[in-house]
Amino acid sequence: MTIRLTLADADIARAAEIWRAGGRVAFPTETVYGLGADASSDTAVARIFEAKDRPSFNPLIVHVADLDQARKLALWSDAADALAQAFWPGPLTLVLPLAPGAPVSSLVTAGLDSVGIRMPAHPVARQLLRAFGGGIAAPSANRSGRISPTRTAHVLSTLDGRIEAVVDGGPAEVGLESTILGLTGTPTLLRPGGIGIDALSEALGARVSRRHDTDAISAPGQTPSHYAPRATMRLNAAEWEPGEATLGFGKMPCDLNLSEAENLTEAAANLFAHLHALDAMGRAVIAVAPVPHRGLGVAINDRLSRAAAPR
Ligand code: TXA
Ligand code: MG
Repeated sequence: MTIRLTLADADIARAAEIWRAGGRVAFPTETVYGLGADASSDTAVARIFEAKDRPSFNPLIVHVADLDQARKLALWSDAADALAQAFWPGPLTLVLPLAPGAPVSSLVTAGLDSVGIRMPAHPVARQLLRAFGGGIAAPSANRSGRISPTRTAHVLSTLDGRIEAVVDGGPAEVGLESTILGLTGTPTLLRPGGIGIDALSEALGARVSRRHDTDAISAPGQTPSHYAPRATMRLNAAEWEPGEATLGFGKMPCDLNLSEAENLTEAAANLFAHLHALDAMGRAVIAVAPVPHRGLGVAINDRLSRAAAPR
């Protein structure tokens, strides 16, 4: 059962408690309802993907209450400052270099060294984020492939019973997801939204360039920014070859195990951190045991085959 929470103080506090306990709470933002969980927790973030039935792991946006929080997550810059001054709180996501040691699960960044951050303007979102006191990872609160939710009823129509709670804050006004601006190199529009390229360029005092493949993150081999280890990947390995760094699933001898208990949520939570750690061993090959293609296993296999794609 998904609990319906109201805007009463006690309910806001309860939502923050559910987040602290690693649960999922859908909440209104000015763009669409988000499906939020503690951005610092691998398990909590894995459970977002589990609820959404997403066939792949796209990086998620971290929602913050204030600038101090944003500065803890990313390497802040004058450009970020100018844009935050102009558009935060509001429907603008900034993709910035991830700060070393930032409290962000590698499942949020999809293993990348950048992080998408936004400070939503919706008063309920702000209240919830302040009550929680940390970053909340939140994609739109719908099952994969369904329309973006702008009302509690939309959220419940696909996620009822799959998430712990929804905060009923009335209709979201915009209904269109935030504009995403990449600031890890040349300022680049990564996803168009309500805030246009001219307004961004003006606030920045420099031209923002366009990128047409808005969902490039999901196009295998097409984007330089999806996480790929240095080592060659060998998937569905029935047994290990000498000298390989080995990633197991289920009870088996290996360097690191996605989940000895064959729990796919645990495996998703471990995926990027384990790949990074195995890559750091400096071996030529990372071999990966078969992961079943059910539930979150579909997204895990999708990400593994991207990491293994020729480049
Ligand atoms: O309005 C919104 O942005 C809504 C509300 C809930 O805030 N959220 C949303 O999340 O639209 P989602 O998961 O649908 O979009 C996340 C997108 C990713 O698909 C990716 O394109 C981009 O944000 N993104 C996030 N982090 C990134 C990163 N480190 N590098 C590149 N792109 C990133
Ligand atoms: Mg979405």
